[in-house]
Amino acid sequence: MSAVNTKIVVAIDGPAGAGKSTVAKILAEKLHCTYIDTGAMYRAVAFEILEKSKNPTEDEIEIQAQKILEDFQIDLKFENGMTRVFVNGRDISEEIRTPRVSQLVPYVASIDFVREKLVDLQRKMSRNQSVVLDGRDIGTVVLPDANVKIFLTASIEERARRRFEELKSKGIESVDLETLQREIAARDRADIERKISPLRQAPDAIRIDSTNDRIDQVVAMILEQCELIR
Ligand code: CDP
Repeated sequence: MSAVNTKIVVAIDGPAGAGKSTVAKILAEKLHCTYIDTGAMYRAVAFEILEKSKNPTEDEIEIQAQKILEDFQIDLKFENGMTRVFVNGRDISEEIRTPRVSQLVPYVASIDFVREKLVDLQRKMSRNQSVVLDGRDIGTVVLPDANVKIFLTASIEERARRRFEELKSKGIESVDLETLQREIAARDRADIERKISPLRQAPDAIRIDSTNDRIDQVVAMILEQCELIR
């Protein structure tokens, strides 16, 4: 890689369980840049709503989201390959990964004012530094001028299997593979079908199907693209 210090912006979009965050974390370390987990930001809002209301109706979701965003200080601290998420100073890194939050998050992510606020924060976080971001709308909406755009996907069976292994490694064994696959399919549908910023491959994104690829192979493919722009 040349010594020229080019600001680099890598956008990784794709459906749940494709390996985006694993790949993005490794890339950020290798490229010495900041990793921004945009899904964690939507999850944080969803978690805060559940803190206020255990079983919120659609109206309650909107009302609570409005209140929460009035005073919403979010910090993503990327250290030692891990993202820690703080909202108004409280560490909610583990809480935002529960199945309850996963189920609620697509509804929260379809609210226009929630997206406006979080996209604005994501753009501010990406200003003046090299970044790797992962999400659903990074290459299409958040940072359409990103230097490298990747659309990372894999078969639904493989994505469910990966999420199952991930939950198991965290000691969460209450969810079976079929339930997980249904949950992921429902989330994909909600993300693809929503009106605002649906999950789409940007026309200039490189599509990588990781069903049969190891993480290091995917990372190598993306690094190759980064080399080209340095
Ligand atoms: O890690 P996983 O793929 O399960 O999901 P995530 O990246 O943590 O994102 C959780 C949810 O947030 C997604 O299912 C989307 O509904 C929403 N999201 C979004 O709408 N836009 C983004 N840029 C990132 C996430």
